[in-house]
Amino acid sequence: MSKPAFYVTTPIYYVNDRPHLGHAYTTIAADVIARFKRLDGYRVMFLTGTDEHGQKVQKAAVARGMETKDLVDEVSENFRDLAVQLHASHDDFIRTTEKRHIKAVQALWKELNGRGQIYLGHYEGWYSERDEAFFAESELIDGKAPSGAEVHWMKEPSYFFRLSAWQEPLLKFYKENPSFIVPETRRNEVIRFVEGGLTDLSISRTSFSWGIPVPNDPQHVIYVWLDALTNYLTAIGYPDSLDEMLWKDSLHLVGKDILRFHAVYWPAFLMAAGLRPPKQVFAHGWWTNEGQKISKSVGNVIDPLALIQTYGIDPFRYFLFREVPFGQDADFSHAALIGRLNSDLANSYGNLVQRVLSFIQKNLNGLIPQPHEYSADDNALLHKGNDLLALVRQDIERLAFHRAFDHIWSLIGDANRYVDEEKPWVLKSEDEKRLQTVLYVLLETIRKIALMTQPFLPESSSRILDQIGVPRNEREYASWLSPVRPGTILPMPYAVFPRWVK
Ligand code: MSP
Repeated sequence: MSKPAFYVTTPIYYVNDRPHLGHAYTTIAADVIARFKRLDGYRVMFLTGTDEHGQKVQKAAVARGMETKDLVDEVSENFRDLAVQLHASHDDFIRTTEKRHIKAVQALWKELNGRGQIYLGHYEGWYSERDEAFFAESELIDGKAPSGAEVHWMKEPSYFFRLSAWQEPLLKFYKENPSFIVPETRRNEVIRFVEGGLTDLSISRTSFSWGIPVPNDPQHVIYVWLDALTNYLTAIGYPDSLDEMLWKDSLHLVGKDILRFHAVYWPAFLMAAGLRPPKQVFAHGWWTNEGQKISKSVGNVIDPLALIQTYGIDPFRYFLFREVPFGQDADFSHAALIGRLNSDLANSYGNLVQRVLSFIQKNLNGLIPQPHEYSADDNALLHKGNDLLALVRQDIERLAFHRAFDHIWSLIGDANRYVDEEKPWVLKSEDEKRLQTVLYVLLETIRKIALMTQPFLPESSSRILDQIGVPRNEREYASWLSPVRPGTILPMPYAVFPRWVK
């Protein structure tokens, strides 16, 4: 039987900037889902990469006195490195300056053109370079783009995409596919925007050259968003051999600021080219820094590499998804991160593993014991462990990472209480059989907890699984019910989540 397929993407990042927390956030979210799905038996494709064309990239190169190509090569490398530092398990890293991508974008253009979806006209209106987006007069706020970016009046010959013709088909599509845009509030915003009416979209530029030339009219370069969005198809074989199975179960993770491109323009382009839209677009919220809006001019941009260096990658990954439900805005603070690290990781999870393993090392020579008869409390803990997979699977399906943590940490809490109640240090001298059973139940519970934390805390979970003797080929969810093996000798334990002390 062939595996079910699953495709997850991050936005491709602009190369006019250094990697910041916002970039790290989406990449880690995609990584968590990709890892979960792989462990759960899916054939997964996880894509990230860089968005390298457009006027602002060209200008950034001029400002640094560099050739544009040299600049994009250099900055793209920073993003590639970021993904490695984040322990992202991406299967591909795409760059929009690659040949395969240029070919895909031009093929999509030709397809749209062949279907009468493109015409030549003149563009006149407000353009924001920072957003690489056009705005109607009515959308401007105090003469600026809604994002606060400067706009300038632009008049030039331009090709247009017949977006206005797709208003009704889009509304019908949203209605028939209620989970295409999540969360719900964002979906409502998009629907309201489309209901407000769509005008045709300018999709080429002549005032600069750093882009993909329009087929048969190289005076024009293709609008950077049409170029960029197509990356999601390029990476799975378009135009020669699109992997339909992946595309059918595809998820684009994006920040709320770029939802319109993904939830309006992108499905319109695709439908107009005779292709199906992706299965889902999920918009996450924005981070502030210690209560303040993050901005380059304020100088409070958060460098994810510095955080990894200070706190370690897993505590950083954990914090990002523990603090607030994915989808909502969130505030970064060192105090909150340290609080989570100490209470959830060191004191709860780490302590459970540490106390059980050091006890076994000291009193059982590191040997996994044989269980005997189970008490009602043993069974309760074991059953709760068994049920964890189904619960977390559902949480991941809904991108409710915080719920997944609730479920996992509820089991950790129960296991810690079980240690307190069963008192292995007393059983040691009073009831050896009972001691063996209790320790076995605990190891088995830790096994399930560690299997379940793998997508979120890959490095620490793997260390814990090593310490409790779970073979590498029994770490997928197909082995959920293959228990730890009595008689296995465990290595010397060590703390996986050290407490943070100033
Ligand atoms: N190149 C486009 C995406 C093209 S996808 C076909 C782009 N790039 S970006 O580098 O500017 O932004 C990447 C992501 O970072 C966006 O999803 C954006 O929402 C996210 N973030 C930027 N600042 C952020 C925060 N302060 N918090 C969370 N995410 C933020 O847009």
